[in-house]
Amino acid sequence: MNPNILKHQKPLRDIKKMVKSDDGVIYHGDNLEGLKLIPSNSVDLIYLDPPFFSGRNYSKGFLEEGNKQEFSDNWENLKDYLSFIKNRVEELHRVIKEDGALYFHCDWHASHYIKIILDNIFGYENFRNEICVKRIKKNVHERVKVKKLNVGYDVILFYAKSNKHSINPPMKKDIKPDRWHSFEASEIRNGMDYDLFGFKPKKGNHWRWSKERAMKSIKEGILRPNPRTGKPEYLIPASSKSLLDNNWEDITAYSFKFGYPTEKNEKLLDRIIKMSSKEGDVILDPFCGCGTTIASAFRKDRKFIGMDLSLSACELMQQRIGRIGIIKNSKLFSDRLQKVIIN
Ligand SMILES: C[S@@+](CC[C@H](N)C(=O)[O-])C[C@H]1O[C@@H](n2cnc3c(N)ncnc32)[C@H](O)[C@@H]1O
Repeated sequence: MNPNILKHQKPLRDIKKMVKSDDGVIYHGDNLEGLKLIPSNSVDLIYLDPPFFSGRNYSKGFLEEGNKQEFSDNWENLKDYLSFIKNRVEELHRVIKEDGALYFHCDWHASHYIKIILDNIFGYENFRNEICVKRIKKNVHERVKVKKLNVGYDVILFYAKSNKHSINPPMKKDIKPDRWHSFEASEIRNGMDYDLFGFKPKKGNHWRWSKERAMKSIKEGILRPNPRTGKPEYLIPASSKSLLDNNWEDITAYSFKFGYPTEKNEKLLDRIIKMSSKEGDVILDPFCGCGTTIASAFRKDRKFIGMDLSLSACELMQQRIGRIGIIKNSKLFSDRLQKVIIN
């Protein structure tokens, strides 16, 4: 037997707590059928990572011989792919709550066409961010006469259903020591151009704080004349974090923990789930693969709905989460959904 198979069978159950029947549900089947069974306005957050229009067939990386195909990303043409996406996005839009959000993971193969579909269904005004997340590069090493640049990132298109959705902005590690900064800022503010250490702000500028606060800050030692120029400067205290923007270079999109093709990194899902949901919220992933989204949601005390067409993907999710049934039957699925959504 291939030793790699054994290596990958070991770590499947990686969540310590026990799953209850109202914590979540796994649907095995075509997500278009499954989505039609979900009531409107019932889901708080959706993450989806569908096939990217890559033109490839994916199999489990660790089966070296007799590879079994896990899922196909081969299409007749772009039109067929986009109609597959559009039909599902319409359902996804219907099931999200008014204050909910959707994160669509894709890449350069079709991201621009997908953006247009999402703009049409969600409304251009509800587009929030294009997030670039670092990918593990399949580097072309030749240095001359190559056809194009290596691809360094995947794209995540973030939409809200309405302006009611707000995020907990993620932070990044950014260690900065105490530092002195000019006390002058652009634009005019009434009463903020008083004399300070013999200086006034330049025309069109103002001092950062009121005169009263400035006097107090001098006494506290956090406002002083610059030792060289004499102009006012204030102390910015040391910090260890700053706001993360939409360029996510600090984590990679992919992981190889369970050997599932195109498996995503749980850190990526942790970040999205923390950003756009709270405890008790319902998280849906209609292309769940080995269950990265539902594992992250379950760990963070959110409810989950995972769907996949591949039975082995569903079985992997089941083993990863613990004792949870895989549901194919529409009636059973609707019954279980009631428990997950209402509780
Ligand atoms: C890119 S993978 C998702 C990987 C996943 N994010 C993870 O971390 O493991 C896409 C998944 O979509 C599933 N899929 C493709 N078409 C589907 C459909 N119509 N309904 C449900 N799942 C589908 C495939 O079986 C595959 O597992």
